[in-house]
Amino acid sequence: MSTDPVRFVTACRVCGSERWQQVVSFGKVPLANGFLDADGSHEDEEAYPLEVISCRTCRLLSLTAVVDPQVLYRTYSYVTSGSETMARHLRTVVRLCGKRVDLAGGGLVVELGSNTGDQLLAFRAAGARILGVDPARNLAAIAVDRGVPTLPEYFDSATARAVADEHGKAALILGRHVFAHIDDVADVLAGVRELLAEDGLFTIEVPYAVDLVEQLAFDTIYHEHLSYFLISTLDALFARHGLRTVDVERLPVHGGSVLVSAAPAEGPWRTHDRVRALIEQERAAGYLDDAVYDAFAARVRTTCTDLSRLVRGLVADGHRIAAYGASAKGTTLLNICGLGRTELEFCTDTTPQKQGRLTPGTRIPVVAPEDVTRPPDHYLLLAWNYAEEILRKESAFLEGGGRFIIPVPEPTVRGEAVVSR
Ligand code: TMP
Ligand code: ZN
Repeated sequence: MSTDPVRFVTACRVCGSERWQQVVSFGKVPLANGFLDADGSHEDEEAYPLEVISCRTCRLLSLTAVVDPQVLYRTYSYVTSGSETMARHLRTVVRLCGKRVDLAGGGLVVELGSNTGDQLLAFRAAGARILGVDPARNLAAIAVDRGVPTLPEYFDSATARAVADEHGKAALILGRHVFAHIDDVADVLAGVRELLAEDGLFTIEVPYAVDLVEQLAFDTIYHEHLSYFLISTLDALFARHGLRTVDVERLPVHGGSVLVSAAPAEGPWRTHDRVRALIEQERAAGYLDDAVYDAFAARVRTTCTDLSRLVRGLVADGHRIAAYGASAKGTTLLNICGLGRTELEFCTDTTPQKQGRLTPGTRIPVVAPEDVTRPPDHYLLLAWNYAEEILRKESAFLEGGGRFIIPVPEPTVRGEAVVSR
């Protein structure tokens, strides 16, 4: 076994270039989903460099440090949120894919990173044959218990070949918020070519680099997210591996994502006009040049300083503050803005796997909403991607004078407007 759990990137995983622009450096940060047991057994908590660079050739945004997946996913506690917002989104994905692929005819849908099987159950309801592939054994076992056939493996060319031999070719290979976690994208795309039918589609949902920059969603930068893609970059990547981008949709999920479909280059699919349009828009807006990323880095610094000042000022004035939603991005936000137990009394979260544990690095106790006996004056919303749903759900807190601090794109206090409506 390798002793060093971190590999430092030299050549770009998309184009092989070694010409990089430095974008942001957050120092050493613990793993975003590395929640700690409350029994004090966390003296050896590790932190790893968290730094983003941009490839000057293909404009892939990449982390410099790739943490060994065995370390990263060993204590994996992320489960697909059971929120209304997410349930609606999973149905949207089925609808969008169903416009392109005949699901009702029993075509095979294979999902990479299928987690506990929610997305595949929605595909089965539409008539598809389903198969999940997910290396997190704890999650794959839950999926199997729920009736979702799941292979507890990493998806690579060998796994893809084995799946094709046993189940036949796939009409759709789907990866929601998993492709950006993959270091060896070449081997995964070789696997896609092995398993995908000639008229099939490879569809991925990834955070969109343009939204990351525009929405200043810098807290979505954490060790699991190795890549942040433009459509231009994905298009170049697919072309290198015998695939062609055929369609793209922008979606509001996770702070702004894109659903991108690719097909075998020589296959029957034609490329939708919106693919070229979006690539041209990226170029025109400056995403192929350094300046956009330098400006992003400066805005990140400002927002971090403003947020720390706002929270510390409220605490100094005698307000009680707690965190809401122990999201993975909350780990980045709290650690890089230097907010911890001094400022935040606790962190409420609905996920049983996180409750009773401590937030990574900052060691704030995570408590179930039903165990919050004294609500704070302000909640810092770490799950801002669910802001609308959460503000609606917390109307009693707001009506009682409680407020939410939304951290990005610039810190704002929400509540009064909602209550007075
Ligand atoms: P995610 O965006 O990574 O799914 O993280 C969202 C976190 O917020 C997750 O741990 C669940 C939590 N959460 C709540 O505690 N209450 C809620 O109402 C919602 C929607 C999420
Ligand atoms: Zn590159």
